[in-house]
Amino acid sequence: MFKRARLELTAWYVLIIMLMSFTFSAFIYNEVSREFKNRLITIENRLSKETPQYFRIEGPVHEYFRSDLESARNRIFLILIYANGFLFVLSSMLGHYLAGKTLEPIEHTMDEQKRFVADASHELKTPITALKTSIEVSLRDKKLNLKEAKRTLQESLDDIDDLKILTNELLALARIEEANLKKQRVNTKEVIRREVEKFEKQAKAKNIKIANKLSLVYIKADEEKIAKLISILLDNAIKYTPKGGKVSIISKLSKNLRVLLIIVKDTGIGIAEKHLEKIFERFYRVESSRSKIKAEGFGLGLSLAKIIVEKHEGKIEVESKIGKGSIFTVKMPI
Ligand SMILES: Nc1ncnc2c1ncn2[C@@H]1O[C@H](COP(=O)(O)OP(=O)(O)OP(=O)(O)O)[C@@H](O)[C@H]1O
Ligand SMILES: [Mg+2]
Repeated sequence: MFKRARLELTAWYVLIIMLMSFTFSAFIYNEVSREFKNRLITIENRLSKETPQYFRIEGPVHEYFRSDLESARNRIFLILIYANGFLFVLSSMLGHYLAGKTLEPIEHTMDEQKRFVADASHELKTPITALKTSIEVSLRDKKLNLKEAKRTLQESLDDIDDLKILTNELLALARIEEANLKKQRVNTKEVIRREVEKFEKQAKAKNIKIANKLSLVYIKADEEKIAKLISILLDNAIKYTPKGGKVSIISKLSKNLRVLLIIVKDTGIGIAEKHLEKIFERFYRVESSRSKIKAEGFGLGLSLAKIIVEKHEGKIEVESKIGKGSIFTVKMPI
């Protein structure tokens, strides 16, 4: 990103400098020639015999030329000062504006990174503090027997497992923001089919059926990331759908044949309108989903999905009705 910004800035500055230099030269050339032309005409007139004697140059001609050239020099000097002042103001304003525009994505990335680190530390701090407290309490308990100690250890181990998943997800998120895509020709039908297969067991445990209707479409994309995207959407659809529900995934070309549509539908708990915008933010979870359906999670899945889609210059949209279900639509340019 820095390399690109540097090249962009250089290009803009060269352009500005060349533009300024060209305008400046043209302006000075124009002014100087006009000045000399005017003076030449005046001198010619004043040397002419037809000019009334009052205006005609008398006495030594070279004296007159000397003073005239002197005044021309002073005028050109003044013109140069004005032109430089004008160029200074204009180029400062233009340079300031363009530098801001070029550095904008870098500033945005830095802000994002700061927020990411703050969010991540906050999310890690809470379970670590809880873990520490529970171990300390057990250690202080003089009557702690082996069975209770083992239970505390087991609980701690479970918490550590959760932390491990969280750190892995955070790493995945950090990496994807940094990394470039490894684009290749991807058979989307095959990738989706593989992901559906992976989730069949999880769905079966909840007596959920995953229906699929997949068209054979190839896109230029990062296969691993597309697989991750599908897995995030399927995971949510199954997780937030009560037992006996239905999940379906459709992939097809849009009507104008320029976009691949991947649609993941479920008959689950749905999402209230006020949460729809926010579910793509990092760590955002809808409170009620925890109580109603007891779903575990960190609120990272959809933010990762969004980054994956945006890195492929696509879009992700959601429609949902509480109690009826949700539809996530991914639009990928071909
Ligand atoms: N298909 C869905 N049906 C209902 N609610 C959903 C669905 N998908 C996402 N949500 C809501 O959006 C929130 C954010 O989803 P996201 O996938 O980012 O996080 P998560 O599933 O809670 O955790 P993670 O994916 O990190 O394990 C969820 O907590 C849930 O409330
Ligand atoms: Mg999720």
